[in-house]
Amino acid sequence: MLAGLVLLEVLSLGVFGALLIRQQTHQVYLHANERLAFQASSVALQAREALQQQRPGWVGLSVKMMGEAPDVDFAMVTDPAGNVLFVSQGEPEQKKLEPAELAQITQVRHEETRVFSLGTDRWESVKAIYTQGDLRGFAWVETDRDWEHGQIGSILHATLLLGFIWIVASVLLAWLMARSISRPLAILHRGTRALMRSPESSGSFPLPVLVQNEFGDLIEAFNRMVASLAEQRAGLNDTLALLDSMLANAIVGLVFFDHDLRIVRVNQRFSSMSGVPLSRHLGRTLPELLPPPVAQELENTVRSVFAEQEPVHNLEINGQSDISGQQWTWLVNAYPVRTTPHKVRWVGVIFLDASDRKRSEEALRKSEKLAATGRLAASIAHEINNPLEAVTNLLYLLHNYCKLQDPALNYVVMAEHEVQRIAEITQKTLRFYRQSTLPSRASMAELLDSVLGLYKGRLNTLNMQVEQDYDPALELFCFAGEIRQVIANLVGNAIDASSNGGRLLVRARRSRNWADPAQTGVRFAVADTGAGMEPEVAARVFEAFFTTKELTGTGLGLWVSQEIIVKHGGLVHVRSRTGGQGESSQGSASGTVFQIFIPDGPQPAAPEVPAPGAEAN
Ligand SMILES: Nc1ncnc2c1ncn2[C@@H]1O[C@H](COP(=O)(O)OP(=O)(O)OP(=O)(O)O)[C@@H](O)[C@H]1O
Ligand SMILES: [Mg+2]
Repeated sequence: MLAGLVLLEVLSLGVFGALLIRQQTHQVYLHANERLAFQASSVALQAREALQQQRPGWVGLSVKMMGEAPDVDFAMVTDPAGNVLFVSQGEPEQKKLEPAELAQITQVRHEETRVFSLGTDRWESVKAIYTQGDLRGFAWVETDRDWEHGQIGSILHATLLLGFIWIVASVLLAWLMARSISRPLAILHRGTRALMRSPESSGSFPLPVLVQNEFGDLIEAFNRMVASLAEQRAGLNDTLALLDSMLANAIVGLVFFDHDLRIVRVNQRFSSMSGVPLSRHLGRTLPELLPPPVAQELENTVRSVFAEQEPVHNLEINGQSDISGQQWTWLVNAYPVRTTPHKVRWVGVIFLDASDRKRSEEALRKSEKLAATGRLAASIAHEINNPLEAVTNLLYLLHNYCKLQDPALNYVVMAEHEVQRIAEITQKTLRFYRQSTLPSRASMAELLDSVLGLYKGRLNTLNMQVEQDYDPALELFCFAGEIRQVIANLVGNAIDASSNGGRLLVRARRSRNWADPAQTGVRFAVADTGAGMEPEVAARVFEAFFTTKELTGTGLGLWVSQEIIVKHGGLVHVRSRTGGQGESSQGSASGTVFQIFIPDGPQPAAPEVPAPGAEAN
């Protein structure tokens, strides 16, 4: 723009200079002609005066003086016929009027001074000399054109110099303007474009402040604005990062819906809960992701939150997993998300997976039922004991009644055996239920026998071969009831995993802690030739609620067992293999071995023990 201005200025200056020079040249010529006319008049006047005073010599003097004038090239006086009488330079005889000059003589009027040109560069003036009405001659003056050219040249020079100074001043002004206006504006323009192109990048900022004027202030204000924008963006990014991390790591499922009930935001936890990959949620509605009844119920909830603008709390939704077929329970809280006090933009829904809680409640109910059943069984056993004693005594008397003979005696002996079995069962039931509150020395063999006795029925049904390998005198210091519970869990699991004709090995002996050989104690193992476990299953068996027995198992058996073993300062170790990978030590392709170590000594609540390992092969 400034370059355009300068160009325009130079052009107009050029036109103005040309017009000025033309005008000035014209003026110079006009003045030169007037002066020429005046000089001829003056020579003519002086010649008339000299002739009137009868002093013709003075005419010559006047001519000479006129010839000395700076702008006069030549002056002369002729007679009326045109014969040269006086000249400013040289001799009159040597000078003759040119035909063009002679032609002027006839045209010169009385008082007129005639100015005429003799070719392009020669100008002359002529004036008639009259004394008392008689024409006495003509005064001629030829101007010195060099002098005029000099005059025009000086005008030209002055004009050019002025123009040059003007242009330099204009360029300087333009440069100063460019420095103080255009450059800051260009910098601002560049900055704005950079900001629009990549609002995140701050490489071009702050913009340089090159001038100390309003534009400099503007750039400073712009820099401050960009810095404050960057600060706000950083704050926003921090907040977004916080929200993202909260969303990603929340232990509850979070989903946000728009007015079309489409998902606008969802977190990983909900994706795990729904079993649908995270990327497939965005822009979708619930019926596209969840089973129809669940989706319908949730959609109705979201719709009602949009309509009522009020949150919905602790809605319980139940369903079944497509993959595992497991029942699940979700606790749902939905709330309106407002962007202005009166506008609900989204509805946020928080999903809490309450399946574990539900299952643990169920397990608790079950175990309470079991405990109650146990207590009932114990009280029944106790009540049976009294009549049983009477029956035993009566049978004894009957047995020793001398008159009794075969086969009646044989029947009495059989009855005595059966009553003896009933007594044993009631004794075992009572012993199993009774819990000691303090640890004590217990017989390992008795503990193992009591559990095997309890499972005798199932073992027989499955035709399982039981191998018992333990010293009847082996003792360990423990809460007998709890260790019995552990053994019962292990034997129960082994039977669950076994098929008809399987083998169960129960072994116990004195040993050392495999993690700390300095520690002595009792090590017992329960091994089976059942189905075995895949490594992923074996790695999770000690987790609470982990079970592969969907309908019959709670998944608490091994978890509780591990707690008990840790409480005794002991260790548990599992090895398992599934079929098809060669023979196991028991001669079968699959099987599982649980090994337990319980340390010696009165240390029922040893604090820190190595975490029980789980390994499978
Ligand atoms: N001897 C074993 N052979 C094969 N799998 C086993 C064996 N012992 C345990 N498991 C596996 O470990 C899982 C967890 O066992 P755990 O005793 O904790 O629970 P559960 O037997 O399923 O249920 P619960 O004992 O509460 O009735 C079992 O579901 C089973 O898959
Ligand atoms: Mg079990």
